[in-house]
Amino acid sequence: MVSRGGDADAGHERGRARVVVRPATDADWDEIYAIFTQVVDEGRTYAYPEGLSSCDARALWMEPDPGRTVVAVAGGRVGGTAKMGPNRPGRGSHVATASFMVHPAQRRLGIATELASHVIEWSRASGYRAIQFNAVVETNTGAVELWTKLGFAILATVPEAFDDAVNGYVGLHVMYRSLR
Ligand SMILES: CC(C)(COP(=O)(O)OP(=O)(O)OC[C@H]1O[C@@H](n2cnc3c(N)ncnc32)[C@H](O)[C@@H]1OP(=O)(O)O)[C@@H](O)C(=O)NCCC(=O)NCCS
Repeated sequence: MVSRGGDADAGHERGRARVVVRPATDADWDEIYAIFTQVVDEGRTYAYPEGLSSCDARALWMEPDPGRTVVAVAGGRVGGTAKMGPNRPGRGSHVATASFMVHPAQRRLGIATELASHVIEWSRASGYRAIQFNAVVETNTGAVELWTKLGFAILATVPEAFDDAVNGYVGLHVMYRSLR
């Protein structure tokens, strides 16, 4: 049984990885920052500036209420992290958004699947009507495949909106999943 509510000490067996998704704590930050830095330095998926200090990265990733940041713990280590919350303030705040990062050495173990399942259930339980991903790099085919498997559709692609470290200017997909 996967921990979806946040605090339960439950896990999910997938292959050899037992994954527990729970709220991130201050004690998790150093491991989250190591993942954040590696993902941003890859230059393939997020438009965060490279070389952010721990303090600046923390301000971007640790989502305040009414959002939240969670970690996926596998083998006693933080294998991945996700943040979620309203996509827009005020009259746009009934649509959620989220971001995901998995440690490069822990990919294809089901960690993002567990994180995304948590995000979907948390968003629905929190009363959001839909989830929108604003900027999925079109060449990030693994992520596009994963979000599609989980019911997200590509609504539009903003041409050449991301400067990919390998392919140069590529599009950003807006992806959407209704929760109704
Ligand atoms: C994209 C990312 C979050 C996926 O995390 P993950 O834990 O490896 O994903 P999962 O193991 O849950 O993958 C589930 C499914 O997604 C698809 N998938 C994930 N990564 C893939 C890849 N590199 N190539 C092809 N398919 C992939 C597969 O269908 C996979 O199922 P399978 O392993 O049974 O074939 C991870 O690669 C990552 O952190 N990348 C850098 C940051 C990023 O891209 N974040 C998302 C931005 S939108």
